[in-house]
Amino acid sequence: MSRKYLIAGNWKMNKTPADGADLAKEIAHFVGKDEAAEVVVCPTAVALDRVAHVIEGTAVKLGAQNLYPKASGAYTGEISAEMLRAVFAKYVILGHSERREYFGETDAFVNEKVRFSLECSLNPILCIGETLEQREAGETLEVVKTQLLGGLEGVEEANMPKVVIAYEPVWAIGTGKTATPEMAQEVHAAIRSLLAEKYGVGTAERVRILYGGSMKPANATELLAQKDIDGGLIGGASLEGKSFCDLIAAARSAD
Ligand code: PGA
Repeated sequence: MSRKYLIAGNWKMNKTPADGADLAKEIAHFVGKDEAAEVVVCPTAVALDRVAHVIEGTAVKLGAQNLYPKASGAYTGEISAEMLRAVFAKYVILGHSERREYFGETDAFVNEKVRFSLECSLNPILCIGETLEQREAGETLEVVKTQLLGGLEGVEEANMPKVVIAYEPVWAIGTGKTATPEMAQEVHAAIRSLLAEKYGVGTAERVRILYGGSMKPANATELLAQKDIDGGLIGGASLEGKSFCDLIAAARSAD
């Protein structure tokens, strides 16, 4: 089964619209129309529109970092799916551990967002992953299972090819500590078998499972060589053109 590698840059709360446009230019220039690997950039909400214009006509796609699961209305500070679609976003990161930790997002709320994004034709990147404490207590697979099945509650099989899962061990995010390729593969394989139990093997084989957590050019090749690692959700190394483009190159030559 061949799944196309996906490299997604999560810019988090970094880059003004002008700085984002500069970075997007560098990435757009590097990618051009090459679709050997799928490339997504996820700027902050205020930079989405400018970045959308910069990447227009190239194979680079746009993603958002969040949405609110209501059509419109009195939700101060929030952003709707329609607004994201209006700036041509295709993907939306949901359930990132920083949102779970700092903004109290629960699996049930993340699930609402996942279902809403699908209804609105946005592809969710559902993030799951254990903390260091949970890993040390031997709870990794249990935590990942709860977050995965919680996030996908009520999501129908027909929608699953649009869903991307990102396994991001919390202890590896922004810390410089990466899961070893074997550690990551073990969890990715477990995620795929949970997907197979829920949706069948054929569907599970189509879903891309990204690794996230201090992924950088120096460790990407080994991670991407793992059977069930289909790309990366990149924070720190996506903020600089050279390192992000090196990651894209690593995905293009991975198999
Ligand atoms: P990192 O972040 O690459 O800086 O560890 C990844 C993420 O949080 O998505």
